[in-house]
Amino acid sequence: MIYLKNAEQLQCMRKSGALLYEVLCHLREAIKPGMSTTELDVYAEQLIRKHKAIPSFLDYQGYPASICASVNDEVVHGIPADDVILQEGDVLSVDCGLILDGWQADSAFTVGVGKISAEAQQLIDVTEQCFFKGARAAINGAHIGDIGYAVQQHAESFGYGVIRDLTGHGIGRNMHEDPSIPNFGRPGHGVRLRAGMTIAVEPMIAMGDYSVSQLDDGWTIVTDDGSICSHYEHTMAINEKGLPELLTFPGYVLTEEAE
Ligand code: MF3
Ligand code: CO
Repeated sequence: MIYLKNAEQLQCMRKSGALLYEVLCHLREAIKPGMSTTELDVYAEQLIRKHKAIPSFLDYQGYPASICASVNDEVVHGIPADDVILQEGDVLSVDCGLILDGWQADSAFTVGVGKISAEAQQLIDVTEQCFFKGARAAINGAHIGDIGYAVQQHAESFGYGVIRDLTGHGIGRNMHEDPSIPNFGRPGHGVRLRAGMTIAVEPMIAMGDYSVSQLDDGWTIVTDDGSICSHYEHTMAINEKGLPELLTFPGYVLTEEAE
């Protein structure tokens, strides 16, 4: 079931999105070699609760933390731990979600810890570009497949693998709503996008092959070939004007002219 949001509800989601943007900015600044991913998780929970919001990941289907911290060949859903110490050269993705006044926001980014290789930086940059290409396709009247096609074309032009087993999703009062948003697809195929839809678009791109597995912890997803992976996500709306508007990157409305 797809829940369309009216103007008032979109306004609420802009607020929760703006708060998550702020939280992620602080987390990004805090990332340093030598820190544990638990330290980052504790900081995230403090920031979220300070603003009277709720960490949405904590206890979600038993998940034990407020962020996912996925290092190198970990794609997503890495569980923060005291003994995961960030090392210079690591590629870290941080995924976080919160609920403000009943409305969800979900966003992720990937960064290098200290100095990283040029190859790793390119993977991170291309993953962000994939997101923006996909997001720009999300206009009133377009199709879900247009988003995935845009992401896939760009990633594969670099020889990267587009993770298929995990997808983006609708979002609103629930973290996961219909429709599912794959990062691959065919133009003009799939559900038609309409003003009032709110979705999380989240390319997960591997330097190598796209096949992935879940570790025995029941959460962490890793690439099967051990290649490093990057993840970038924003909660966004097809807004009242039918244009893609990033809710977890306030003020960012994607128009055809904007790059
Ligand atoms: N951000 C993830 C998603 O988009 C959710 C993390 S799963 C959780 O689906 F268990 F950590 F919440
Ligand atoms: Co998500």
